[in-house]
Amino acid sequence: MYSQGLIGANTQAEETQEFLDAFQARIDAEEKIEPNDPMPEAYRRTLVRMISQHAHSEIVGMLPEGNWITRAPSLRRKVALLAKVQDEGGHGLYLYSAAETLGVSREQLTEDLLSGKAKYSSIFNYPTPTWADIGAIGWLVDGAAIMNQVPLCRCSYGPYARAMVRVCKEESFHQRQGYELMKSLTEGTPEQKDLAQDALNRWWWPSIMMFGPSDTDSLHSDQSMAWKIKRFSNDELRQSFIDATVPQAELIGLTLPDPDLKWNPDKNKGKGGYDFGPIDWDEFWRVVKGHGMMNKDRLAARKKAWDDGAWVREAAVAHAKKHANEAAEAA
Ligand code: 3HC
Repeated sequence: MYSQGLIGANTQAEETQEFLDAFQARIDAEEKIEPNDPMPEAYRRTLVRMISQHAHSEIVGMLPEGNWITRAPSLRRKVALLAKVQDEGGHGLYLYSAAETLGVSREQLTEDLLSGKAKYSSIFNYPTPTWADIGAIGWLVDGAAIMNQVPLCRCSYGPYARAMVRVCKEESFHQRQGYELMKSLTEGTPEQKDLAQDALNRWWWPSIMMFGPSDTDSLHSDQSMAWKIKRFSNDELRQSFIDATVPQAELIGLTLPDPDLKWNPDKNKGKGGYDFGPIDWDEFWRVVKGHGMMNKDRLAARKKAWDDGAWVREAAVAHAKKHANEAAEAA
């Protein structure tokens, strides 16, 4: 998607006040920043952190669902799940390419993931013991991802913004397949409805934690919003997600596991919104710091995939060298 020739492009500039003001003026004028443009080092680092974490989340996110492909209950469900998991792999690839345009190598990004230095979304450290988890992930996790990612289509960094357009279209299909799966379960036997309710009970709180710490504890939001990387704060997006999801749960006869959930007509500057109960931030940070139920398994699976794929990378490099030599000889 992006020319590897851009890697290492000279985007360094002396960060005088004049340079920083001119950069901010471009941002304020809604200009897109492109890979070869001069940019403050902190802007570049923020994007590498965020885009690579996003890429890691996509490829780690393939694992909890991939585990159900062989056990999907019908051909239709299997095909949809296979397509979804494949999409997530594609999203990872766009995003790694977008991160590479900032002068960081894929190898370095992978090393940071496997060593535990780089984060990936907390949500993928929860297990998927039942088929209903596949519905809950599509509906809630992809639903939360869309809420967070549609504004990223307007991110100030061009390659990230453009990658997000296709990603969001595909996430929208993922959300619908998940919701439709949950709806089918709620229309089935009492046991199937119980499965759907149980999955919702387990995925609701982790899904609303996906938006990150509350605004008062968010380290990066203010600067990322000033640079128009983020367009809304973590709490604003979390509130929008809750307000959109409560009626969806009601429509299919499921109960959200939050006794404090209550419509508040005064919220959202008088437009109304749901009050909700306290989020267990201790659980969130435990999972983010590597102590969730599945953290170790997820990283072990990614390490195995990277090690098993070494021969493919070596073969690709040998093939590219062979063609480069042939081209040089012909010239
Ligand atoms: N899981 C793990 N770490 C998280 C997190 C989460 N859900 N939410 C926040 N954090 C981390 C941050 O990365 C940061 O740590 P760092 O300084 O070491 O990087 C710390 O907690 C403080 O959080 P901030 O609010 O200050 O961080 P950000 O301003 O970066 O906001 C974010 C966090 C909202 C996740 C933002 O980075 C973002 O919008 N990222 C792009 C989208 C993304 O990565 N989504 C992940 C899910 S993708 C997905 O779900 C795949 C799909 O197929 C379903």
